[in-house]
Amino acid sequence: MNAAIDVSRHRDAVEFADGVYWIGALDPTLRTFDIILSTANGTTYNAYLVKGSEGVAVIDTVKENFSDEFFARLESEVDYADIKVIVLNHLEPDHTGALPELMRRAPQAKLYISQRATSMLKALLRPSAGVFEYTTVKTGNSVSLGDRRLRFLHTPFLHWPDTQCTYLEDEAVLFSGDVFGCHYCDKRLFNDLVGDFRFSFDYYYAHIMRPFKKHVMDALKLIEPLKLKQIAPTHGPILRERPRRYVTHYRELSTSSLSGEIGGDDQSMVIFYMSSYGNTARMAEEISAGAGDVEGVRVSLYDLEGGETEPFVDLIEEADALLFGSPTINGDAVKPVWDLLSSLAVVNLKGKLGGAFGSYGWSGEAVKMIEDRMRGLKMHIPREGLRVKLIPTDEELDDCRGFGRFIAETLVGKSPQKAVIDFADLA
Ligand SMILES: Cc1cc2nc3c(=O)[nH]c(=O)nc-3n(C[C@H](O)[C@H](O)[C@H](O)COP(=O)(O)O)c2cc1C
Ligand SMILES: [Fe+2]
Ligand SMILES: [Fe+2]
Repeated sequence: MNAAIDVSRHRDAVEFADGVYWIGALDPTLRTFDIILSTANGTTYNAYLVKGSEGVAVIDTVKENFSDEFFARLESEVDYADIKVIVLNHLEPDHTGALPELMRRAPQAKLYISQRATSMLKALLRPSAGVFEYTTVKTGNSVSLGDRRLRFLHTPFLHWPDTQCTYLEDEAVLFSGDVFGCHYCDKRLFNDLVGDFRFSFDYYYAHIMRPFKKHVMDALKLIEPLKLKQIAPTHGPILRERPRRYVTHYRELSTSSLSGEIGGDDQSMVIFYMSSYGNTARMAEEISAGAGDVEGVRVSLYDLEGGETEPFVDLIEEADALLFGSPTINGDAVKPVWDLLSSLAVVNLKGKLGGAFGSYGWSGEAVKMIEDRMRGLKMHIPREGLRVKLIPTDEELDDCRGFGRFIAETLVGKSPQKAVIDFADLA
């Protein structure tokens, strides 16, 4: 069925369930999205239309400069006067770009958004777009189109605070917003017809959803019990063939493959360091030994000399405490340490314990800079970092063991967690 679908050849709506249409736009030439994502073959902005006996619902819109395509597809099926409901699952401009014009053309339509979307609605739309009346909805709320009903699922932080999903009960279609989406442009539109988009799907999850794994799990609790015939996300293919496997895959992706690896109730501490003359390395070894003396803490020590950061991201996500050691070189910490610290935007570090250490020659800025970065990532720094001038003495190596032991004891609750005021708490 639909083997010859090519939505680039027309500007009509595409019906994919009874009275349910895709009215989105193709953006095949886009190569970078939101600065951070490469989009090797572009993306789509998917918007949808649901016809009921007492009016029409439009679910999401498109990026502003794709409005023409969106309106053309919409007009191919309905009159603006029939639009009763506009649902915004997510207010990012790639989905709200056409909203002001849509509201101008269908002023009678009621807007349905999540509670957290209200402040964003104001901030995103120019004053000239006019004042928008809206109704806020949450899980359990629904809106009737006469003979059919749209139910709302509150799924915050997937991937903005405002996000929600909308479920059409009678056809079992989940309009999932960015969830289950991917930047993959294919004019054949449906998952059983498009090319192999597995890479894009996982890539999108890794960069967009991964930092919010806990929220993904919460959302899955709402989504998994639903009967699902199709999932209609805002980017990439409509998932009509075996939609549930994408839900299962999200659960797999949100459950770390490493969980359970650090056995029983053990806490995991990972220590990363770089060292040119071996001074910071000596510190790292002693810190590791000190921490390793504490029962219930499993310590791992890694030299960043190899320069690779990617393999460590999973470890860091699983770790309970992270220590970074760097000498001060030209007033700064060394690049591999920064590379690793800057690659952590995809994991949630909030509340993990952190610590920094390093050898220096005269000014020794590195340790403080690393600490500041860790605080910026909302980690707890229970003890001020450890600096050693040039070659560590025996006494300083004792201090290193004490430092490791203290962080480890804090981790297992033997030392007070907040021995030092943590700025992350004040944020
Ligand atoms: C190229 C270079 C630049 C350095 N710049 C600084 C600096 O700006 N401030 C400082 O305190 N130490 C500086 N140092 C001294 C190192 O931090 C010091 O030698 C330290 O003990 C090296 O530790 P490591 O053996 O763990 O690499 C510099 C060393 C080198 C080789
Ligand atoms: Fe988004
Ligand atoms: Fe999006």
